[in-house]
Amino acid sequence: MGAYPQRPPADPAVVERGKAIYGVQCSFCHGSDARGGEGGPNLLRSQLVLNDQKGEAMAPVIQNGRIDQGMPKFDLTAAQISDVAAYIHSFRVGGYDISRERPESILVGDAKEGETYFKAKCASCHSVTGDLKGLGARFTDPKLLQNFFLMPGGGRGGFGGGGGGVANNVPPTTVTVTPAGGPKVEGRLGRIDDFIVVLMEADGTQRTFRRDGDTPKVDVHDPLQPHKDLLRVYTDRDIHNLTSYLVSVK
Ligand code: HEC
Ligand code: HEC
Repeated sequence: MGAYPQRPPADPAVVERGKAIYGVQCSFCHGSDARGGEGGPNLLRSQLVLNDQKGEAMAPVIQNGRIDQGMPKFDLTAAQISDVAAYIHSFRVGGYDISRERPESILVGDAKEGETYFKAKCASCHSVTGDLKGLGARFTDPKLLQNFFLMPGGGRGGFGGGGGGVANNVPPTTVTVTPAGGPKVEGRLGRIDDFIVVLMEADGTQRTFRRDGDTPKVDVHDPLQPHKDLLRVYTDRDIHNLTSYLVSVK
């Protein structure tokens, strides 16, 4: 990997706009200093980010996501992406800038409002006296708890296994493929794109199917789809309120 390029300083107003987007949409996975977190890799060591000038290389990743890999897609315009890119490129990599390392406390939310939000948006699937009992006690760092509820099992690799570094109960993403005329095949999703779908059957057999439009028929069942959908609707406030509430769930 080459040295991180020295870039001419960007317009501070652009960097500020990028920072605002990054803070809400990206920092909880990639870290407030872009050096990676529980859910996402270090962006400052990424070859793709290194090669990027004004967001053009990051845009496809941000706009399409890498859903299987735990990177959601974001509905950001090219201008917003170039602002975020300017912000990410503004980090100094050689000299360690400690002021950026420590995020301000994230327990700035209102636990009562967090509870109300939980009842409205989460209680259909979870209960703080049932499956989430003791949640607050499982994490000493509220930031990790926040990453965990935002994207349980974040950064899962192929076949939905491991990754993320936090023990969790997240069932794997599965897929059903129905070839024309053939019997259905079901298994854990390995990889999927417009041309190919790879799955692993219950006995460990790996199967690969070529895709051509709607043939074969492919149905993906991602247990975390509701969480991915929520990522697009939370406001910064919702997230802070929820975190403040959930740390108190003993
Ligand atoms: C829920 C967690 C999460 C969020 C939120 C998130 N990312 Fe990611 N991001 C990931 C993961 C996981 C990967 C690694 C995907 C892979 O393995 O290919 C990734 C990969 C990337 C990459 C590609 C890095 C490379 O070297 O291939 C870029 C660029 C990136 N993210 C930028 C962003 C930006 C900008 C935002 C905010 C708009 C953002 N991400 C929000 C989890 C996240
Ligand atoms: C439509 C159902 C659904 C909704 C709504 C939902 N979740 Fe989840 N959540 C899941 C599934 C499925 C999992 C993965 C299996 C599991 O861990 O229970 C999960 C996992 C989790 C986990 C990890 C549990 C563990 O111990 O592994 C946390 C924490 C969590 N969700 C918090 C929330 C919060 C907070 C909200 C509301 C903002 C929410 N969820 C909304 C379905 C949902």
